[in-house]
Parts: sequence; structure tokens; C-alpha cells
Amino acid sequence: MREGELMTNVSVTRAGSRGNDGIGALKAATTIWFGVMVISQWLFVYYIAAFYAEPTLSGQFAAWNEHPFLSPFVRGDIIGNLAFATHVMLAIFITFGGTLQLIPQLRATAPWLHRWNGRLFILFSLAVTLAGFYMVWLREPVTDISAELAISINGALILLFAALAWREGIKRSIVSHRRWALRALLAVNGVFFLRLVFSGWLVLTQREPDVMQFRVFEYASYLVPLLVLQLYLYSSERGGTAMRYLAAMALYLVSAAMCIGAFGFSMIFVRLIVFGQS
Ligand code: HEM
Repeated sequence: MREGELMTNVSVTRAGSRGNDGIGALKAATTIWFGVMVISQWLFVYYIAAFYAEPTLSGQFAAWNEHPFLSPFVRGDIIGNLAFATHVMLAIFITFGGTLQLIPQLRATAPWLHRWNGRLFILFSLAVTLAGFYMVWLREPVTDISAELAISINGALILLFAALAWREGIKRSIVSHRRWALRALLAVNGVFFLRLVFSGWLVLTQREPDVMQFRVFEYASYLVPLLVLQLYLYSSERGGTAMRYLAAMALYLVSAAMCIGAFGFSMIFVRLIVFGQS
């Protein structure tokens, strides 16, 4: 597969026929998922920038604690506050930059941008993750080991996948690079998927999840997307007709769930937290 090939142009499209072998269905589902992913990610980027950019860049860190669910500012904890500042500011870049990596036209017309954006994406993902590890394990005493483990496994997967994507990129093993880069992208977006699941749950049930449910959401937020990606890769590279329809169905289901989550996210994180409207 040549570099710059569209993510939506799964390798099966080269196999020839479209129609009843599931190739067209998989391609359509991928395009829908891609659209939902990009729009909801830009919503996340907007939320982080609107809530954190101004107080962080002007040094008014105490304003972070106006957040209804979090209190990341701790008076006197210079290293911890700087770790959080780095974490959220670079989170804006990796969330936005990650979606750019998926845009086919950009990869085809400006491969240099794809390469540089990819390098920065990997470097900044490492920085965000290491700052996250610092906050989880060193900043405050560990109180809930299962919660810390859930996010830390996500962090470990980001480091692993990013390193493998980088290594395969250097070796010019483009097919393998693409697979690891997609896994890294989904692992990086685990925290974003968690917010979508949480928001979708609130919208559908009108109540907060209990501790056990939230723990399940935390693990599912990166394991389920990685499983769906595996199904997508397998079906597009080696799968038969049934497998492609199965992957297409999974992508449609995930896209529908993400639409509900994105609606909830815009109500809770954007409307309530950014604009202060209940
Ligand atoms: C790499 C992708 C990641 C992104 C884009 C990201 C993004 C964010 C954002 C936007 C916040 C602010 C909270 C909010 O307003 O919702 C946050 C907080 C936080 N993140 Fe991450 N994060 C990522 C990965 C991680 C990882 C891997 C860890 C841990 C190993 C981590 C640990 C934390 C912690 C401890 C907080 C502060 C929560 C608090 O104040 O209680 N993050 N993150």
C-alpha cells in the first residue's frame, strides 16, 4: 500500500468488484464513521480550548477548578500544575492533529505535512501520557488502584503503539506503520471515547453511572475501539463477504453510539461546563 493512500480506501477496494461482496458496505460504513469521528473530535478540541486555553496561557491556573467534576489546580504544587497545563494544552494538539492524519486528501496532496504532523503527534502523545502518569501515580496518594490501572493501561498502550508506529515508519514498512498508527490514534482517543460514553449514558439513563459501571466504561473506552479496528483491518485485508458486512455493521453501531455520545457531550461539556447553561 503506498503512502498517502486513503484510510477510507481500504485495501479491499483494490480487489476489484464492489457490490455484493461487502466491499462497498465496508467502505460506506468507514466513511460514515470517519465523518462522525472528525466532527465529534473537533467538539472535544473546542471544549478543551474553550475551557482551559485562556486560564492556562495567562497563568490563571486556579480557574481550572471552576470545572464541576475536577479540581486539577493545587496551590503550591508547581510541578503538578505545570504537568496538568502541559497535559491539557498538548491534548488540544494531539486531538486535532490526530484527525488531520486521517484526512485522505491531505495525505495525498501534502505528504510532508502528514509526516511532520505524525512525528509531532507521536512526540506530544508521549508527553501527554507521561504527564498523565505523573499525575496519576506521583502527584497525589493513590486512592483507587483499579481506576489508576484502567487509565494507566491505556497510557501504556499509547506508548507501545506510538513506538511501534514510529519504528515501522522509519523502516518504511507502510502497511504495518498504518496499522500501528491507527492503533495509537485510537488508544490516544481512549479518554475522548470515555467522555462520549459517559455523556451518552447520562443522556440515555438520566443518571450518573455507579463506580462499577464507570470502571467498565474506562476499560471499554479503549478496548472496544481497538477490537473494532482489529475487525476492520482483518476484514479489509483478509476477510470474506460475511466478515466485511460484520465489520460494516460494527462501524455503523459504533458511529450511532458516538452520535449519541457527541450529543450528550455537547450538552454537558460544552453547554453546561463551557457556557455555564444548565
Ligand atoms: C493521550 C491522550 C489524552 C488526552 C487527549 C487527555 C486529555 C485530558 C483532558 C482534556 C483533561 C482535562 C479533564 C477534562 O476537562 O475533561 C485530562 C485530565 C487528566 N488526565 Fe488526561 N488525557 C490523555 C491521556 C491521559 C493518560 C494516559 C493519563 C494517565 C496515565 C491521563 C491522566 C489524566 C489526569 C490524572 C487528569 C486530571 C484529572 C483530575 O484533575 O482529577 N490522561 N486529560
